[in-house]
Amino acid sequence: MTMIKRDPSFELKKHLSSNWANDDAFLTAVLNALSFCFPKGEKFFMKSVRAFKDDVRLKDMSEEIRMFCIQEATHTREHIKYNQLLCELKGYDLEKLESIFVKSLEKSHTDKVDNKTRLAITTAIEHITATMGTNILKGKILKSDNPVVDMWKWHSLEEVEHKSVSHDVYKTINGSNKVLRIVMKLALIDLIFVITRIAIKMLKHDKQFWKLSTFKSMFKFFFSKKGALRVNYADYKSFFDKDFNPETHGSDLDLTPWKEKFSTNQFV
Ligand SMILES: [Fe+2]
Ligand SMILES: [Fe+2]
Repeated sequence: MTMIKRDPSFELKKHLSSNWANDDAFLTAVLNALSFCFPKGEKFFMKSVRAFKDDVRLKDMSEEIRMFCIQEATHTREHIKYNQLLCELKGYDLEKLESIFVKSLEKSHTDKVDNKTRLAITTAIEHITATMGTNILKGKILKSDNPVVDMWKWHSLEEVEHKSVSHDVYKTINGSNKVLRIVMKLALIDLIFVITRIAIKMLKHDKQFWKLSTFKSMFKFFFSKKGALRVNYADYKSFFDKDFNPETHGSDLDLTPWKEKFSTNQFV
């Protein structure tokens, strides 16, 4: 799939401190928590893919790897701005909240985890972000219309555009399928746990946690068929299919309107 270098800027200030995601406190907190994980997480993705860039087996993939890194670096840049602004507006302690994810990520930085396993982690999480991105662009997760949602849609578009890169690199270097499947299960559990913890801390800080409406949105998120978690389940499961190929998976999504929407760089 063609990857495009974009350089967007989003006017987030007016909406970021509200429940900008469907006017739903829990979903908003979950996506804000996920945003806190992106700067360090995407740095890890870029590093784990770049670790193989000089491998002769990947000589035809250098452009793909380069574009993957350009897109992830732009996401990192925009999410750093997003996270700083959110902390300014809400009074969150960025370092403290981010450290919950950092501690989890540190498990992948020990000597016991080699470059191939790090790439397996990236490949698994890239499938999670592409799955989520696909369902965001299909309108299954975010119903609101504001610049914060636009930023998530732009990020979603690029996650879908580069969804095959890490997987292709992993397959080309003969990464083990067994390891990939184990890592996927562990990564998903870990990610849900970390994001939920950060989101709950945010909601407690906002004095929104002990509210019936928040419990209702939390229940919807985890258990409802239309909730953000279950909506992604079928696509998540397909990762374990024998003939899984990220390039053809989810190809019923037409990216044309999204490419057009994000062909200009300013969103207000
Ligand atoms: Fe990204
Ligand atoms: Fe990505």
